[in-house]
Amino acid sequence: MTHIETPDTIISANYAAMSKKAAHEIAALLHSKPDAVIGLATGSTPIGMYAELVRMHEEEGLDFSQATFFNLDEYVGIPHDHPQSYHHFMHEHLFSNVNANPERIHIPNGNAVDLEAECARYEQGIKDAGGIDLQVLGIGANGHIGFCEPGTDFTLGTHITQLTEQTRNDNARFFDDDHEQVPTEALSMGPATIMSAKRIIVLANNTAKTNKTHAVHDALYGDVTQDIPATILQKHPDVSFYLDWSIQREVQKMIASQSERSFSRD
Ligand code: F6R
Repeated sequence: MTHIETPDTIISANYAAMSKKAAHEIAALLHSKPDAVIGLATGSTPIGMYAELVRMHEEEGLDFSQATFFNLDEYVGIPHDHPQSYHHFMHEHLFSNVNANPERIHIPNGNAVDLEAECARYEQGIKDAGGIDLQVLGIGANGHIGFCEPGTDFTLGTHITQLTEQTRNDNARFFDDDHEQVPTEALSMGPATIMSAKRIIVLANNTAKTNKTHAVHDALYGDVTQDIPATILQKHPDVSFYLDWSIQREVQKMIASQSERSFSRD
């Protein structure tokens, strides 16, 4: 039988506390399994988590040297040193500030001559590393995980994806608020890649810039559908959502107003 369950939620008072809790889960993994394979996300949400990991490395000697890292995604067609490339992001927020081994850092190459071959190479690289022990995710306002946009086939591995207008608008905040500058394509782990991770954690806080209350609500409680990629997580046996109290409250309000509506219809 297919496993479907409401994912576990871990609620923190605010963004800083949420970031610390998530960082502590990664640190615990690095302590118990120094050569762990860890999948990482970019975007605004995990920045606080990376800052805490860097602090733990500097002040407590948290060791990254034996671990292997695979990032979820990368834009197609922008240079690696572009300030908004995910290569640049990861080095700025984490890799340049800890003792990760450069040979064990993997980020899809959005400038590969043969993008299909790059996707196949990346997917195989994850398998060859023994699979991902812990995958970190953010979630888009349209329910995307990685850059698996609504409608993405749940059976896909790493693939080339066309970014939706909503994602390009949401990410314009990183590109001088100009959505024309946001690339139209990306390489992304697929739902099947993400679901093959042994454990998954999703971070989401309430932000004015991208209202993702609906997406978080549906990921936790909605029907599982390819139209909202994050809903597939309900089928994973070991997933936790790290939320700040503010988004948790918005999700609860949404549930309350839905049951009020169905009550008044009865
Ligand atoms: C980033 C990624 C995306 C983001 C999502 C949320 O590697 O895969 O799915 O996690 O777009 O972005 P933020 O955190 O900026 O709201």
